[in-house]
Amino acid sequence: MPSPLRHAAVACLAVAFLSSGSYAAAPAVARPEALLKKMTLDEKIGQLVQRAGGRSKALNSRLDDAELERVRAGAVGSYLHVAGAEPLAKLQKVAVEESRLGIPLLFAMDVVHGYRTIFPVPLAMAATWAPESEERAARVAADEATSAGLHWTFAPMIDIARDPRWGRIVEGAGEDPYLGSRMAVAQVNGYQGGNSLRLGSLMATAKHFGAYGAPIGGRDYNTADLSERTLQEVYLPPFYAAARAGAGSFMAAFNDIAGVPTTSNKELLRGLLRERWGWQGLMVSDWGAIGELLNHGVAADRAAAGVLALDASVDMDMVGGVYADDLKAAIAKDKLRLKLLDEAVLRILRVKEQLGLFDDPMQYHDTERETRELSSPEHREAARAIARQSIVLLKNEGKLLPLRADKLRTLAVIGTLATDGLSALGSWRAQGKAEEVVTVLKGITAAAPRNLKVISAPGADPRTPDLSAISWAVKIAKSADVTVLMIGEDYDLSGEARSRSSLELPASQLELARQVLATGKPVVIVLANGRPLALSSLAEKAPAILETWMLGVEGGNAVADVLFGQYSPAGRLPAAFPRVSAAVPFNYAGNPTGRPADPDIAKDTVRFHDLPITPLFPFGHGLSYSEFRYGELAQSTQAVGPGERVDISITVENVGGVASDEVVQLYVRDPVATVSRPVLELRGFKRIELAAGARKRVTFSLTPEQLAFWSPRGQWLIEAGRIDFWIGASSADLRANGSFEITKTHTGTAPASALATRVTVSNN
Ligand code: NOJ
Repeated sequence: MPSPLRHAAVACLAVAFLSSGSYAAAPAVARPEALLKKMTLDEKIGQLVQRAGGRSKALNSRLDDAELERVRAGAVGSYLHVAGAEPLAKLQKVAVEESRLGIPLLFAMDVVHGYRTIFPVPLAMAATWAPESEERAARVAADEATSAGLHWTFAPMIDIARDPRWGRIVEGAGEDPYLGSRMAVAQVNGYQGGNSLRLGSLMATAKHFGAYGAPIGGRDYNTADLSERTLQEVYLPPFYAAARAGAGSFMAAFNDIAGVPTTSNKELLRGLLRERWGWQGLMVSDWGAIGELLNHGVAADRAAAGVLALDASVDMDMVGGVYADDLKAAIAKDKLRLKLLDEAVLRILRVKEQLGLFDDPMQYHDTERETRELSSPEHREAARAIARQSIVLLKNEGKLLPLRADKLRTLAVIGTLATDGLSALGSWRAQGKAEEVVTVLKGITAAAPRNLKVISAPGADPRTPDLSAISWAVKIAKSADVTVLMIGEDYDLSGEARSRSSLELPASQLELARQVLATGKPVVIVLANGRPLALSSLAEKAPAILETWMLGVEGGNAVADVLFGQYSPAGRLPAAFPRVSAAVPFNYAGNPTGRPADPDIAKDTVRFHDLPITPLFPFGHGLSYSEFRYGELAQSTQAVGPGERVDISITVENVGGVASDEVVQLYVRDPVATVSRPVLELRGFKRIELAAGARKRVTFSLTPEQLAFWSPRGQWLIEAGRIDFWIGASSADLRANGSFEITKTHTGTAPASALATRVTVSNN
């Protein structure tokens, strides 16, 4: 498996090959092991220590003399919240030239959806259903971040989230483990530049292992109380996929799973991840999480907390200072614990070696490259292309969109979010700058033809209950031929510690929408938000709704491209939008139960009797300016055994007269098994480009392993019997179906949804 460790030798060779004559050749004896032998106990502990180089968002602000002294003493292994080729070069020089062993530092930051060129928030990028775009965005972020002295990002966040009250749903790929696994792999590849750490990699962190996305009630940091099957089938697959893809590091989640805090969960971190999955990278705690073991009530003092975390194989202590201050006495005389310490140190040193830091610690500090990379025209172009792909057309009554700019005289743009550059950047904006954002108002103004006058009004701000500017906005709307009303959540309503009890729009936004819609003029709602919202009342009244999330620096241009029809929207929801807040958690892949939900029977089936059984907008939903005809299905065989595959293909034709992408989706169901299986599960998808009138054949290759489930005996089991499948345009718009037999019951080795379905596209 392509784990970081197994690639150490390859990485050394790469260093020797790529380097100029001045770099050291790969050492004969592995360098980490040789170094370990020379290290004092304090120096070993020092490698496990990660300190914050900045106060809050003020980067590098703590790098004073006292901090340099710590580096000289070998008391620090890594810094986070630092950046900049030049300041970090100075710091690295101290580590390499002035500390006794010259061990380089690791510099880290939350580069989550871009460094300076900010891309759409991850939930939005998941809506592209285009892993290749995720990979491209991650590679751009890596190019920028590594040019600014960084070696390590705390991304991707690959927590599955089925409760949109949880504010961190914005940081991941939504509700589905198959889509989530594809996006996880794409990002790891993008950040690291391949499936192993190498010169120029930005080390990826798969976080927050393993069920941070399942806090009870959607309250951030809360306990996850899951069945073993749900954990294995839903929450862990993206982590398995990321481990297989060679993610250099993992971060342990803050929360506990059924009472076991992840930071001390030896069975999960050491037993499952390292021993069973064979992953051998660097495990970092979350911020101060080792010390929080006291709050969890599993450690009586900080020393005990440190020992628990070390035993669970948490290698690096992010900021908490437990390893730095409280570990030494607890392990100094204990051979077993000293061995655990050595293992942790080795894992950290190996990562440093794989990144080429021993051979050329200054490779990440080229200021000219930094100037060239940051916000380069190509990066901005990629940000625009991916922002366009992220937009989801939720509703388009009477084909109000695209706007016929040539036929309009006045267009009103209403809402403070239309001019809010900061919100466009989302809650993890790294080094993104609000003044570099093309806001929606700017984008529309730039794209509007001469004949079209653009007028604007703030209306109401999601941050305040102030309604005083709404009457002016209504006047503006009345005077325009059409209004673009941008409403939603500002950046600070989603993200860490931003769980909301309600999924409604903020009150001021609802009131603004109510009054503007009451004008009776055509209104296009442009939504900005970091989570699925409950939009029922709005969706009834508004003729057109465009979901634009938080799209990053090029968001305004992307929105204008879609509004004026330069680009047909083809994004798809990576998580369902409920009708009301109380309907969550909800997931399309639920079990049938003994009383399957029935749309026509209000009682005695698994549903709310006062709500339709479907969400407002289902998983996978998204409209287009075009239309697509799905042709006949073909399948290569009716029966598959172990090691075999079935090819399922369908022709998709663009019959709507407008060039557009379409996202073709494959769902499966195991109708009779020894455990009840979900009514539908995504097992393949492909975003294809189709010119007007063109058609393509999409072929999905499925293997029996992809139908494995977690058996009551605790193993992946593939049972003989019929499998049903559907191909469609969303989880609720299934266009063709078929079935095949699995001929033999056998055991599998991996979570089914972590495995990628091979997809091929041909032009016939
Ligand atoms: C806490 C967050 O949970 C984590 O995702 C992040 O990487 C760290 N803080 C560092 O900023």
